[in-house]
Amino acid sequence: MKAIDEYLAANKDRFEDDLCELLRIPSVSADSKHRQDVERAAGWLHGQFAKLGFRTETVKTAGHPIVLAESPHVDGAPTVLVYGHYDVQPPDPLDQWTTPPFEPTRRDGNLYARGATDDKGQMLTHVKSAEAWMAAEGRLPVNLKYLIEGEEEVGSHNLYDFIDQHKDRLACDVVVISDTSQFGRGLPAITYGLRGIAYYELRLTGPKQDLHSGTFGGAVVNPANTLCRMLTALIDQRGRIQVPGFYDDVLPLDEHERKQLGSLPFDEKKFMEQIAVDAVAGEEGFTTLERRGARPTFDINGLTSGYQGEGAKTVLPAKASAKFSFRLVPNQDPQKISASLEKMLRGLCPRGIKMELIDFHGAPGVVVPLDSPYIEAAAKAIEHGFGRRPLFMREGGSIPVVTTFKQKLGVDTLLLGWGLDDDNAHSPNEKFSLADFHRGIRASAQLWAELAALKK
Ligand code: BES
Ligand code: MN
Ligand code: MN
Repeated sequence: MKAIDEYLAANKDRFEDDLCELLRIPSVSADSKHRQDVERAAGWLHGQFAKLGFRTETVKTAGHPIVLAESPHVDGAPTVLVYGHYDVQPPDPLDQWTTPPFEPTRRDGNLYARGATDDKGQMLTHVKSAEAWMAAEGRLPVNLKYLIEGEEEVGSHNLYDFIDQHKDRLACDVVVISDTSQFGRGLPAITYGLRGIAYYELRLTGPKQDLHSGTFGGAVVNPANTLCRMLTALIDQRGRIQVPGFYDDVLPLDEHERKQLGSLPFDEKKFMEQIAVDAVAGEEGFTTLERRGARPTFDINGLTSGYQGEGAKTVLPAKASAKFSFRLVPNQDPQKISASLEKMLRGLCPRGIKMELIDFHGAPGVVVPLDSPYIEAAAKAIEHGFGRRPLFMREGGSIPVVTTFKQKLGVDTLLLGWGLDDDNAHSPNEKFSLADFHRGIRASAQLWAELAALKK
């Protein structure tokens, strides 16, 4: 690994410049006015792989393109599928960014830009590690396949069919994803559990137009009042979700795992300080770490109704709507939940209100087995890159494709996060530690060697 580590040291600045190039492309998948930018980001990645001499293809879909690449074949070596995404979340609210979201800026050892940690910076570590192997050794010790999509942040709608139709082409021994976090600063981790998700919009319509709330109020059902009542019925004071059957398939946390989660060096006070709250709350009977990673939740993601302008306006709004989602744990079925939820909401919706429930996307949660040789290989690689062995943790976010890889390709995923909880993913001032970018590349380069040593 000496030649490779030397190459990494000699090319540090250029790796950062390359990442900055990618970060300058505003590949916001949710926003149709950025369609061309999303395509440009795919093209940029395509160029990176082509430069390495990898067989590279950009596949058009009904949505955004998928970039595929394959390193030169090595007989008898394991095949690793690297998944990542080059699309990013919208940068709003823009006025809260210290420097513009698509002008990457170095500040106190971090690189600030939308997509820095989620997922351009993390994903690129696995491209640069391959570059180092090709440059320093002339070859890779494993077969690498890359599947980098542009629709992760909007539900990966075109990815699932693609995987289903290209099972042979994507066949592999293990999947590697860096799109999660470390446990904390200087505490690298392997994530063995991710939550699933079920995302909805509820739209209520009352009278044909907004009305004077003095003339009509009290005699006409108010959609905003109704919306509040329906939403609060979904969760009780103890943090228990009230959708009938919601907990039926939830597997209880076993004592061994609770102990293990309880032994992680979590500092609740620091956690509260980081987000400036004076209390934590959630489902009764569970710790903060359990609530965040291993228990299902309900959150309203957006609310709209009535007058939002300056001053007061006495109005009875004609419409009210909310976007909300449940985070799910393994074994819960999003479709079953959708059916039960719809029935419950219809039962709560009074006459005088028309109700529409839109089901955006759903995905089950996952846990990956820890007793595999791949995990041990990853732990060694992380130790090489980060200077200490990883902790093992569950995270609350969702990467739905992990379940698809298991179901369609029959393989497990290594979730090797290089990010931090306070990287501001999906928020203003997203950042990625430059030290972690380089540590991630070093760990990734070592990972190819460790996986090769496992043979087939
Ligand atoms: N990188 C995140 C997933 C993630 C977040 C994993 C936090 C672990 C901790 C990913 O880009 C993401 O944002 N996923 C969405 C999924 C959704 C769009 C289907 C999420 O979790 O909200
Ligand atoms: Mn991501
Ligand atoms: Mn994301």
